[in-house]
Amino acid sequence: MQRLKRFFWVGVLMMFALPWTPVEAFHKDVYEPRVPEPLLEELQDMDNPFPPTPENIEAGRKIFFGKGYCVLCHGKDGKSLEIPGHDPRNFTDMRWQDARTDGEMMWVLKNGSPGTSMPIRIGKVISEEEGWKVILFIRTLAGK
Ligand code: HEC
Repeated sequence: MQRLKRFFWVGVLMMFALPWTPVEAFHKDVYEPRVPEPLLEELQDMDNPFPPTPENIEAGRKIFFGKGYCVLCHGKDGKSLEIPGHDPRNFTDMRWQDARTDGEMMWVLKNGSPGTSMPIRIGKVISEEEGWKVILFIRTLAGK
């Protein structure tokens, strides 16, 4: 009887735990690189071709709030909304800002973040140039 009871509770636990496990386990650590391992070094060496001038940052801000639709998930303050499955990145997180390079962000804008709801942006709603500028704007959110 004792054993049966234990089986019952293990069953109940699994019913609740299983559907969540893959979502929780995938890319749980926000500081881990999102790009495929073979491309990592090259992307980490890649510089943003646009300097962070007030004009370029302003162009990036407009894309973030406008045609890039970034604000829908990443929020007005860049801290991001909570959405089912996988939270969008909090751009004010200094540790994440330090861990991530512009080249890696560029890859995510071109490919999305596979397994999450971060969508492909470049070629769909923005150009590569606009992507680099939105990255300049994301950098200004650090620590806010
Ligand atoms: C539909 C919701 C959604 C939209 C729209 C969206 N994002 Fe995201 N974004 C996410 C999610 C979810 C993540 C977290 C992905 C992960 O953890 O791998 C993310 C992560 C990111 C990251 C971090 C990737 C990394 O390497 O850590 C960057 C940069 C980013 N988004 C930029 C943008 C920009 C710029 C736009 C607009 C052009 C945008 N996102 C639009 C949902 C969205």
